Amino acid sequence: MCCSDCGCYDSCCDCFCPCLSSETRETILCCAVCFAVVAGVVLFAVLLAAYGFVRHAEVSVPEASLTRLTLLDNTSQATAFAYNISLTLNIRNKNWAMAAKNTKPLDAEYNFDGQRFERARLAAEGEKHPPGKTRVYHLASGADNAYVALGNAGVAEFRKQNATGVFEVEVVVSGEVKYTARYTKCKFEAKCPLKLQLAPPGTPAVVFQAVKCKLTKPEKNC
Ligand SMILES: *[C@@H]1O[C@H](CO)[C@@H](O)[C@H](O)[C@H]1NC(C)=O
Ligand SMILES: *[C@@H]1O[C@H](CO)[C@@H](O)[C@H](O)[C@H]1NC(C)=O
Ligand SMILES: *[C@@H]1O[C@H](CO)[C@@H](O)[C@H](O)[C@H]1NC(C)=O
Repeated sequence: MCCSDCGCYDSCCDCFCPCLSSETRETILCCAVCFAVVAGVVLFAVLLAAYGFVRHAEVSVPEASLTRLTLLDNTSQATAFAYNISLTLNIRNKNWAMAAKNTKPLDAEYNFDGQRFERARLAAEGEKHPPGKTRVYHLASGADNAYVALGNAGVAEFRKQNATGVFEVEVVVSGEVKYTARYTKCKFEAKCPLKLQLAPPGTPAVVFQAVKCKLTKPEKNC
């Protein structure tokens, strides 16, 4: 009876704990209000830290090897590569609460002198990358006749690098993701400039210096 129509704090206290002095009652009320405010602020701060800001992925290539790279036709514009490249690609989702879901497939492109000669699928559309996790992709690519539009400029660059035995291959990781609890879809692109020393099977293995990839500046709201 007392509490169903208990309009105010005092009558409630009269009902449940009549022994408490009014001073004690006030202190308790004060503490309760204080606690509620602090809890609210903490909850807000936690939600803001968890979902307010996107931390962009960290991409790196800890391991890579090139066992074959030859130019098939250097007399016409229809140049092609015969090659074997293998590499390990790490992608880390640095957010501690937000998963990244692929809204487009995640691909890796291999370029020589700005020209693409390989495109490999890393993850399908719809796949989720959980918060805090690192995905490790092992890619082994090879072809006997992979078209690459080098032109005579690219052929000259190939010859130059071929003479040193070290090739510059750029790996570009690209896709589009949406983070948990956020509306915007964010384009994602990272460029990994690799320097690969040719080491055909049977020759001593070469040490590869791990490469940290550079993220393309994200768009607004991403
Ligand atoms: C490319 O062409 C040059 C002459 O233009 C020739 O000397 C060289 O052997 C050719 N290289 C290959 C791999 O065919
Ligand atoms: C190199 O690539 C070719 C495809 O052209 C493949 O058949 C071969 O097994 C690859 N070699 C190695 C060592 O991966
Ligand atoms: C690349 O270098 C090798 C020797 O290291 C040579 O046999 C080959 O002809 C060169 N290819 C081109 C296209 O220059």
